[in-house]
Amino acid sequence: MKLYEHISLKPYNTFGINQKADILIEASDEKDILEALTSYPTLKVLGGGSNILLTQEVKTPLLKITQKGITTERENNSHIWLKAQAGEVWSELVDYCVLRNYGGVENLSLIYGSVGAAPVQNIGAYGVELKNAFHSCEAIDRESKQKVIFYKNDCNFGYRDSLFKQSKGRYIILSVTLCLTKKEHFFKTHYGNIKALLTEKGWEETPAHISQVIKQIRQSKLPNPIELGNSGSFFKNPIISREHLLSLQKTYPELPHYWVSVTQEKIPAAYLIESCDLKGYRIGQVGVHKGQPLVLVNYGNASGEDILSLAHYIQGQVKKRFNIQLEMEVNVW
Ligand code: EPU
Repeated sequence: MKLYEHISLKPYNTFGINQKADILIEASDEKDILEALTSYPTLKVLGGGSNILLTQEVKTPLLKITQKGITTERENNSHIWLKAQAGEVWSELVDYCVLRNYGGVENLSLIYGSVGAAPVQNIGAYGVELKNAFHSCEAIDRESKQKVIFYKNDCNFGYRDSLFKQSKGRYIILSVTLCLTKKEHFFKTHYGNIKALLTEKGWEETPAHISQVIKQIRQSKLPNPIELGNSGSFFKNPIISREHLLSLQKTYPELPHYWVSVTQEKIPAAYLIESCDLKGYRIGQVGVHKGQPLVLVNYGNASGEDILSLAHYIQGQVKKRFNIQLEMEVNVW
């Protein structure tokens, strides 16, 4: 266990915000985590720092799980169950799977963040969510200090949502087990231009080819946090009632929408923000990304408050024009 005091969190958050934490503990195994919990019962877990916006100094002790390792739990002719420790980098786990021709997570290539954080918001992209390949995870229940196992059906997975998110930090995820296909894969290539790009390259559908195409799409639209601080989608795509959609379509007949249920439709927040003429908008050190308006960026030395005020401004503009309240996907600390 390593303990740092008054440490800058700049390297620990993908927005690159320079805020300090009073205490940061790095735990490399379960024993470390339990020890940290005993000494600091109120601690918060810091994952890959790709879904937080730091607006003030962090007084609550932070726990960073650094435990790595990917192991085969079991395997048969058609499937393999891989267990990855929480401290693994998600995109490296995807590359590990793709390299071995294991199918199921190729659409989730290049999503930043740690493996331990992936189930919390049920990460998703290009028609696939973590839950599709998720088998189970191990976690420590802070109330009982016991290790518990959650299977897919226990996790209450929803769009960018899960039991772990709903229970607000009660469970500290130790590892995630994925169930992946070895031979007969079930690819999802209907989203956007995945299929078109595969055809253009003359590539058959394999985990490696799909992963490469997804990486190409992402790199052409989304900023790399190493070059430009950001935390991926800042807002969730809002879900509105069918009546609301019908009334908006009178003014915006081309409004894109995706079926959610008989009574609800999902609207791309990117479209709403772009319609408010905010795509590429910049104010001082912060801005709305020119390639994907759902992403807010730090051009250099922005503070968390700068980004938060831009987010509030965007919410206000979208509310005024569409009467839709955009909900932040990022957690504000
Ligand atoms: N759109 C615009 N203008 C743009 C971009 C998009 O109007 O500049 C509209 C278009 O109608 C487009 C639609 O938004 O068809 C959807 O765009 P896109 O495929 O880029 O996806 P998204 O809904 O904006 C979601 C995820 C992303 C994920 C992509 C691809 C959320 C909050 N975001 O974005 O996730 O990569 O789909 O599957 O659901 C992340 O969570 O950090 C993230 C980047």
